[in-house]
Amino acid sequence: MAVIIVEPDETGAAWLTHAVAGLDQRALRTASPDEAMAALATEGREILAALVGSGLADEEALGLAARLQQAAPEVPVVLLRRQDSGELLRAALRTGIRDVLPASSDAAAVRASMARALEIAGSLRGRLAGGGAGRPDLAGDRPGEIITVFSAKGGCGKTFLATNLAVALAARGAGVALVDLDLHFGDVAIMLQLFPTHTIQDAARELELDAAALRSYLTPHAAGVWTLAAPTEPAIADTVSASAVAAVLRLLRSSFAYVVVDTPAAFSDQVMVAFDQSDATALLATLDVPSIKNLKLTMQTMERLRYTRSRVRVVVNRADSRVGLRLPDVESILGAAVDVAIPSSRSVPISVNKGNPVILEEPRGNVAEAIRRVAAQLAPTVAGAPAPLRSRRSLFQRS
Ligand SMILES: Nc1ncnc2c1ncn2[C@@H]1O[C@H](COP(=O)(O)OP(=O)(O)O)[C@@H](O)[C@H]1O
Ligand SMILES: [Mg+2]
Repeated sequence: MAVIIVEPDETGAAWLTHAVAGLDQRALRTASPDEAMAALATEGREILAALVGSGLADEEALGLAARLQQAAPEVPVVLLRRQDSGELLRAALRTGIRDVLPASSDAAAVRASMARALEIAGSLRGRLAGGGAGRPDLAGDRPGEIITVFSAKGGCGKTFLATNLAVALAARGAGVALVDLDLHFGDVAIMLQLFPTHTIQDAARELELDAAALRSYLTPHAAGVWTLAAPTEPAIADTVSASAVAAVLRLLRSSFAYVVVDTPAAFSDQVMVAFDQSDATALLATLDVPSIKNLKLTMQTMERLRYTRSRVRVVVNRADSRVGLRLPDVESILGAAVDVAIPSSRSVPISVNKGNPVILEEPRGNVAEAIRRVAAQLAPTVAGAPAPLRSRRSLFQRS
């Protein structure tokens, strides 16, 4: 398999080739968009990704990305730019560019971005080749619903939302489990002020895990949420395999009405497994261009992976911050409606620092009210009652 490098400047091209060495891919050096397209035509499905250097002008780079997207939509494009701007990022979004890096990035940053692009490309191919069934149909044997909270960017408020959502669902009287899949830096336990004696690692290393054993690894919260905490040391995280996560989620959904999953800001294998099993997904962003860019890319990726058959809701957090972007801007960039906007509030960091979810701390506040709306959108069924019929424009339909 191969990656195409597009860079007219000889030294720049050599540097980029060096940066992607170690990714286990052939690097095909090209000096212009036409050469890159010719390489794609010759190599066909051998090409996994493209890396466009800063030697191409913005216009040429964006034009090439558009041609690549047309010819091979599954090939992610990573762009190096001397200067980026909101405008460039927006244009990049429209042409399906995976990532825009500053030209001053070091080789490790370029390699990491390409590695992420390759990971998603590989997973897309695997799934599309496998008939595209993103989510196995488990109708009949799925008493509980899995709800995943995701954003491809850190600090958007995933853990804040996941913990409060779990509490909101528990307040309806449903049995709720909360799984911390941020295996390296999970902070569900901290936000709920829990002191777990066991973590997901204990569950993952048990060869014949059953529901009773799994239950013994959960840490209860007074609000009625049973938490499966992340490992305490980041180094351990890698021992929790995707297949172990799949088994854990299957077991939890057999004993809880809702399983809320908090995630890291990455399409890791473990996160993919959660998407595979999710009945509903909250995609989270804040009102800044990089965050919306990542949300758009996430939506495109999910659409390609056919995850959109599950309930997907777009949630903008801190939606009243005065930072330039407004909700209608976001909706027009996304081509989709924002389902719930959660306001910014000082009570959030205060409650986070206290370890008491804001929905308990200030149940009548705006934030709590917004979280209940998220819960109503993601889990419209009151435990036991049938889901109301709803007609809704597809999230990914352009308006
Ligand atoms: N609506 C909000 N208003 C004010 N602060 C918020 C809000 N949502 C999140 N925060 C703050 O942002 C920080 C990051 O949130 P967190 O849930 O840890 O993000 P993530 O899990 O996506 O990395 C938290 O410390 C929290 O206090
Ligand atoms: Mg988090």
